[in-house]
Amino acid sequence: MSLVQEIDFGTPAKRTEKTVSLTIDGMHVEVPEGTSIMRAAATMGTQVPKLCSTDSLNAFGSCRLCLVEIEGRPGTPASCTTPVAQGMVVRTQTDRLAKLRRGVMELYISDHPLDCLTCSANGDCELQDMAGAVGLREVRYGYDGGNHLRDTRDESNPYFTYDPSKCIVCSRCVRACQEVQGTFALTIAARGFDSRVAASAGDPFLESECVSCGACVQACPTATLMEKSVIAAGTPEHSAVTTCGYCGVGCTFKAEMRGDELVRMTPWKDGKANHGHSCVKGRFAWGYANHKDRILNPMIREKTADPWREVSWDEAFAYTAQKLKGLQAQYGKNSIGVITSSRCTNEETYLVQKLARKTFGNNNTDTCARVCHSPTGYGLKTTFGTSAGTNDFDSIDFADVIVVIGANPTDGHPVFASHMKRRLRDGAKLIVIDPRRIDLVKTPHIQAAHHLQLKPGTNVAVLTAMAHTIVTERLVNEAFVRERCEDDTFAEWRDFVADPQRSPEATEPFTGVPAHELRAAARLYAKGPNSAFYYGLGVTEHSQGSTAVMALANLAMATGNIGREGTGVNPLRGQNNVQGSCDMGSFPHELPGYRHISDEKTRALYEAEWDVKLDPEPGLRIPNMLDEAVEGRFKGIYIQGEDILQSDPNTHHVAAGLAAMECVVVHDLFLNETADYAHVFLPGSTFLEKDGTFTNAERRIQRVRTMIKPKNGLADWEITCRLSEAMGVPMHYDHPSQVMDEIARTTPTFAGVSFDLIDKLGSVQWPCNEKAPEGTPTMHANGFVRGKGHFVLTEYVATDEKVGPRFPLLLTTGRILSQYNVGAQTRRTANVVWHEEDRLEIHPQDAEDRGIRDGDYVKLASRAGSTSLRALITDRVAPGVVYTTFHHPDTQANVVTTDYSDWATNCPEYKVTAVQVSPSNGPTDWQEIYRAHSKASRHIADEPVAAAE
Ligand code: SF4
Ligand code: SF4
Ligand code: SF4
Ligand code: FES
Repeated sequence: MSLVQEIDFGTPAKRTEKTVSLTIDGMHVEVPEGTSIMRAAATMGTQVPKLCSTDSLNAFGSCRLCLVEIEGRPGTPASCTTPVAQGMVVRTQTDRLAKLRRGVMELYISDHPLDCLTCSANGDCELQDMAGAVGLREVRYGYDGGNHLRDTRDESNPYFTYDPSKCIVCSRCVRACQEVQGTFALTIAARGFDSRVAASAGDPFLESECVSCGACVQACPTATLMEKSVIAAGTPEHSAVTTCGYCGVGCTFKAEMRGDELVRMTPWKDGKANHGHSCVKGRFAWGYANHKDRILNPMIREKTADPWREVSWDEAFAYTAQKLKGLQAQYGKNSIGVITSSRCTNEETYLVQKLARKTFGNNNTDTCARVCHSPTGYGLKTTFGTSAGTNDFDSIDFADVIVVIGANPTDGHPVFASHMKRRLRDGAKLIVIDPRRIDLVKTPHIQAAHHLQLKPGTNVAVLTAMAHTIVTERLVNEAFVRERCEDDTFAEWRDFVADPQRSPEATEPFTGVPAHELRAAARLYAKGPNSAFYYGLGVTEHSQGSTAVMALANLAMATGNIGREGTGVNPLRGQNNVQGSCDMGSFPHELPGYRHISDEKTRALYEAEWDVKLDPEPGLRIPNMLDEAVEGRFKGIYIQGEDILQSDPNTHHVAAGLAAMECVVVHDLFLNETADYAHVFLPGSTFLEKDGTFTNAERRIQRVRTMIKPKNGLADWEITCRLSEAMGVPMHYDHPSQVMDEIARTTPTFAGVSFDLIDKLGSVQWPCNEKAPEGTPTMHANGFVRGKGHFVLTEYVATDEKVGPRFPLLLTTGRILSQYNVGAQTRRTANVVWHEEDRLEIHPQDAEDRGIRDGDYVKLASRAGSTSLRALITDRVAPGVVYTTFHHPDTQANVVTTDYSDWATNCPEYKVTAVQVSPSNGPTDWQEIYRAHSKASRHIADEPVAAAE
């Protein structure tokens, strides 16, 4: 493997069909109108020397190194800021230009440390390259004058340093923070010789507004902003392109290595989801892969009170197979099941559901999407005909009105948030529907047109009141509805929403949204002309989650905002492969490609492929598995890459279910909280050790490539196959690409997908088949997948979870940028400097009523349980609402969430829990017991360690 090379074209590409021809250095070239001379030269292989420009940023024209001569024009204009013109004749190399460029470089170098040989960027520094490119051989001014060589470094950020002695004040970092990231944390402070990059008001980076995305580090042409990992390990010597293992944005990166050590993750410029950008997690938070807590050998124990015993893989498989088969023999075929992982690849997930269906002989397979986006699956399938987001991320460039509902993209989907912020700065209007004042509501150069700060649990009433406004104010797109949607369901829906009891005025008293504000937002959305919904778990994790998704779909259809760029209903998926895990048939009622298990034809296809008779009845969902376990009928489970004790609601019930099982198999990186109840632990691999594909929120299938061999000796897909084999059902593949071939053979929406195609195109969005051989960026373009769009009545039914005198506040939950879900990975990285504990956000008025000061420990109690954490007093939440994250097991926020769930899918109602908050002295009894139990159950016996095979 060698280093993957990328060309820097100097300035961004222009999107236009119109082209211009010119001559550069005697060569004819044709480029899109508006292209810079620098970029035009680069397209024909000529690199004009440059320092202040790079193709991810708009041209700035400050360094004066890129000068060129243009026939018929005086002077030597900068090629980065001068656009091409028809018939232009340009020279990039002349004696005059060479002299001028050397003069510029001399000035830079006269105030630059001469430590190239020992500099961490040696060989990877544009300043060094340019000194060579312009032929600089001497510096006439000497090095004794005023300089910055003794300026002090800022080492405060855990991942990168700022060494001002090496800064050439090119401003690329400042512009990257503005244009690419949209945080505006950096400025050039002072003037002339004293110019200096400053974070916020000259704070250390760690204390500034910087969110550590690393865009400035990537843009810096010198070693001024530099990754600490490169300083420690040296510059990389080989790399490959792979996909981030964290969130559903699906950023692709060059994983840059020295030997088998990862030294840097550089966002891949051609990545279609991220276009060369990343967040702090994908770029920097990969240290967990080498964390000492990783378990690398399989372990077993008879009882959860026993210490773990490390065993060989053979023994682990034999033991697990004998246990699971024994349970089926004793308690019946349906007494065991699986949970697939949205962190694992499509191929791994496919094999785990196959394990349930083929090897176990039942449909007891479910996935963590149960607790996040299962209502998306149900809602979009019912209305449009398929369970997936409608548009690609780039579609947002064409949106005039962006509605963000129940999502917090700057924390949850940061790279897409940066893209969204660019579009908003370019003039799109923003509507935020959220109980909390998320950052997007007001952030540098962005102000939401409307923030509908609804009471938690009232999404359906608010969206239906928007529909009421659109229908009664005659804003329906009649032509679209007539042509594309069902007449009867539309007519029924129109009459339903027009009822005055569903008006903004009638619903205001319980939604908390002022009617005039809601009406204005509805008009803005309807008039677009291109309006797009982006939503998250604040829509789905409710007792009416599926209804709310259908309410969004109704609005999109009624206004014709579906089926073209700039529109759509777009779920922001949480985990890296949650889309894929749903696509792969992880749900108990669906085979891959969302085909119901009761469908005889589909079953016949798999029966032939797998040589097995399939059960036509749907299997158990996660909550049903746990209920059945408590009842003594469900006895064994194989859980791949999922910590249900932390991530599922009502922790006490989950613990009771797991404790009642006789064989809990956990396949994971770390001894997670669920593993406290496990009898078998199978060590898993990080994304750096995997080979396969992930599917992001846009249905984009991308390659994950093995950078390091699996540290435990076996790839995750091999582990599932070996377990099946040990149970007497061989499952053999030589490579994950063969699993994808099987998926393509049996799933019409994946029929054209193969590793070869993905390697050729970089990525592909399903459906990909004969009709769409290179995939489908925009769904429902010429008709809905189900035929005509189906309107659904969205009656608002208040949740049974009500506030009252005992529990007068509403708790809602969410994520924070630096941490990821239950924190198993990010808590094992330096990201903890930004978030070492979950805090409870509480409005100043509610805090004062209870005598709570900022930072005090408080008890958070619901009818399900209580926990204790520290308070953060803020008016981001409205009075009566409190908010917390769920990243730390010590807090166990899900101890307080209830077991109410979505009526259609059982997705838990995480976003509404009636709670009380009171002063506390520290951890609750439950937390103390939990900590003691965890410690005891993680004990590993001091016996000889069986080496990984
Ligand atoms: S820190 Fe780097 S990118 Fe920023 S001004 Fe200095 S040299 Fe340029
Ligand atoms: S790391 Fe990102 S947020 Fe921080 S200063 Fe650099 S570009 Fe701005
Ligand atoms: S936005 Fe998501 S996919 Fe992209 S780098 Fe961050 S965590 Fe990874
Ligand atoms: S690269 Fe053109 S002026 Fe700096």
